[in-house]
Amino acid sequence: MIPSPAKIQQAEGKLGVLTPGLGAVSTTFFAGVHAIRRGLAQPIGSLTQLDSIRLGKRTENRNPKIKDFVSLAGLDDLVFGGWDLFQDNAYEAACNAGVLDQPLLEQVKDDLEKIKPMKAVFSKDYVKRLDGSWVKEGKNKMELAEQLMEDIARFKEENGCSRLVMIWCASTEIYLKEGPVHQSLEAFEKGLRENDPEIAPSMIYAYASLKSGVPFANGAPNLTVDFPAIRELAVKNGVCIAGKDFKTGQTLMKTILAPGFRARQLGIEGWFSTNILGNRDGEVLDDPASFQTKEVSKLGVLEHILRPDLNPELYGDLYHKVRINYYPPRGDNKEGWDNIDIKGWLGYPMQIKVDFLCRDSILAAPIVLDLALFMDFSQRAGMKDIQEWLSFYFKSPMVAPGLRPQHDLFVQLSKLKNVLRYLLGEDQITNLGLEYYE
Ligand SMILES: NC(=O)c1ccc[n+]([C@@H]2O[C@H](COP(=O)([O-])OP(=O)(O)OC[C@H]3O[C@@H](n4cnc5c(N)ncnc54)[C@H](O)[C@@H]3O)[C@@H](O)[C@H]2O)c1
Repeated sequence: MIPSPAKIQQAEGKLGVLTPGLGAVSTTFFAGVHAIRRGLAQPIGSLTQLDSIRLGKRTENRNPKIKDFVSLAGLDDLVFGGWDLFQDNAYEAACNAGVLDQPLLEQVKDDLEKIKPMKAVFSKDYVKRLDGSWVKEGKNKMELAEQLMEDIARFKEENGCSRLVMIWCASTEIYLKEGPVHQSLEAFEKGLRENDPEIAPSMIYAYASLKSGVPFANGAPNLTVDFPAIRELAVKNGVCIAGKDFKTGQTLMKTILAPGFRARQLGIEGWFSTNILGNRDGEVLDDPASFQTKEVSKLGVLEHILRPDLNPELYGDLYHKVRINYYPPRGDNKEGWDNIDIKGWLGYPMQIKVDFLCRDSILAAPIVLDLALFMDFSQRAGMKDIQEWLSFYFKSPMVAPGLRPQHDLFVQLSKLKNVLRYLLGEDQITNLGLEYYE
């Protein structure tokens, strides 16, 4: 829900960023923010830190930085915390993840060592490849949610935060479909008390977050906040939610390339994508049940961008396949190959090969930063429920029932900036203006 332009509460005081999961993505994010604060590195990949926004007519030449135009929490005002089923502090977890070089980690070691995980809500039933002992106990799922709410309140108090946000950076859970327990808040709360197996740990975190008035963004493809009961709670408590699955790596490339093919009305007969990666995420995704959750998230992208229903002659027979292979030697440095069989004038075939040697968590960390700052902004702007304007950051953007998600990266970016312009009382930019002739 987008309110009319209104006076938005300024970002005053500290913002606590809580992440379920102290793994590769979250520790790369924490370490990066500390390194940037110390002047050791640049926030590359972050819109909130680097991008500018055009205001008014082109002739006006007004292009402030987003962070100067919108009241966002400053990097010095961020405080980090989280939960994990392994007891390693963020420095140890970052060393294990092997994303950042040791010399850089040593320079932020003191900051990272202070981030110690709280005990997780975890069950092996939902992430089969992990086993840890730093796990909460309770007689039912409602009691576990209450323990999380206590953690949240304690963290806020101890760190003197004025606001909090929660971003799911924990492992991908097994594939779950919406069932009766997800249909209303009443059914969901009953399910929490009765230990309904359809309620996964990520949903318990989300429930605790929203009950505490803390916005929640989901970086994994799990259902988590994408069902009616949680939306009901978000609306009731006036809290923002967003998801799902950070848009990095191969899917980022897809949502850059596919809009171009469609714009030029080039056909596509097949798009085969395969990956090798060797981090813990790769190990979790090696389990077919967790992979299925990821696969569903990755497969929707092309259909929504290309609209075979509207362009049957170009995309009606598109064969789309996605594979993820766990390959330990590569660690976090994933390699993603795409083979794209396209067709042009008179149906003549052509091929494009993409070989992206990327770094998963390096691409994900600035997304976590931007989401933390924008979710906090949304909350201060009085918004609630799904923050569709943040679709830019997700592989599988959440939308209200009956709406089609927007996957095209460039449309997503225009939408994001137009929402900012609108909320700050500026004209939206449609690129339809005739100022050249004025
Ligand atoms: N890296 C990327 O580019 C990228 C892109 C999109 C989505 N994601 C998703 O982000 C998530 C994090 O990725 P990562 O590379 O940091 O993985 P990771 O395996 O390094 O870290 C995940 C951490 O979550 C912990 N965990 C699992 N279940 C938990 C629970 N219930 N409560 C608390 N902690 C729990 C694990 O112990 C682990 O330390 C994954 O779900 C991944 O699929 C990552």
